[in-house]
Amino acid sequence: MTRSASSSGAPWMTFRQAAANEPARGHSGLSADAISELIREPRPVIEGKRHRPIFRDSFLMALCRRRQSGFADIPGEYLELGDIAAFVRIAYGNPSRRHKAVPSAGALWPLRVAAVLTTAAGDTNAYWYDDIRDELVDLGERSPDALARCFLGERNVSAMLTRAGVIVVMVDPSAVVKKYSSRGYKYGLIEVGAAMQNMYLLGAETGLGVRAVGGFYDSRFTRFFGLPNSWHPELSVLVTR
Ligand SMILES: Cc1cc2nc3c(=O)[nH]c(=O)nc-3n(C[C@H](O)[C@H](O)[C@H](O)COP(=O)(O)O)c2cc1C
Repeated sequence: MTRSASSSGAPWMTFRQAAANEPARGHSGLSADAISELIREPRPVIEGKRHRPIFRDSFLMALCRRRQSGFADIPGEYLELGDIAAFVRIAYGNPSRRHKAVPSAGALWPLRVAAVLTTAAGDTNAYWYDDIRDELVDLGERSPDALARCFLGERNVSAMLTRAGVIVVMVDPSAVVKKYSSRGYKYGLIEVGAAMQNMYLLGAETGLGVRAVGGFYDSRFTRFFGLPNSWHPELSVLVTR
């Protein structure tokens, strides 16, 4: 079947085709040609206002500016359990009695967070973050090789792993599908992204290196932690000092 644009707004219609098919409407008052031009040459919508002081002075904007994915060029110091605690808390903790660190569709909280810490003494230990009690539950010692085998073996990731703390964010679909059916899983993934960004911003604030790593074998992580099979590992975040 050839892919063609249709007036029904088929998903494969390009934005340009969509713009050309749509009569000018809405508050923008732009013609289809003008919209098409904008799409071809994206430019700041709030031109001239991008560098207003409100942005320059914002603490959050300063963190966003510093946010970047870490590398392990120079082997740093080992992390401590307190560092891991800080990262799982900012990912999915409870900064106040009534609020978690990220929003959740229907307040159903489908994320499950686990972590691995390798200490200077050479011990590698796994934890589950009980976000309701705000506790790191000790899952026991693990083999560093088994941890390395969870990843696809990218060179930069392997280099970081020798010293990195690893946070793994999972979705427990059973928490959301009852209310939202299969859409619930999508909402879970959106939450994973929010938790990830929180960790990046904490990295920017503390100066610790943070790298989201999606290159891993889901089933190996499930076996590694020994947590329920139904919790899907979605993203790992490596943290280095
Ligand atoms: C969902 C996701 C998965 C990622 N997976 C990997 C990965 O498997 N390996 C890796 O080295 N970096 C990974 N990254 C980090 C990106 O490569 C990095 O964010 C991108 O190069 C932009 O660099 P910056 O974060 O410093 O701006 C991932 C980032 C995201 C958001």
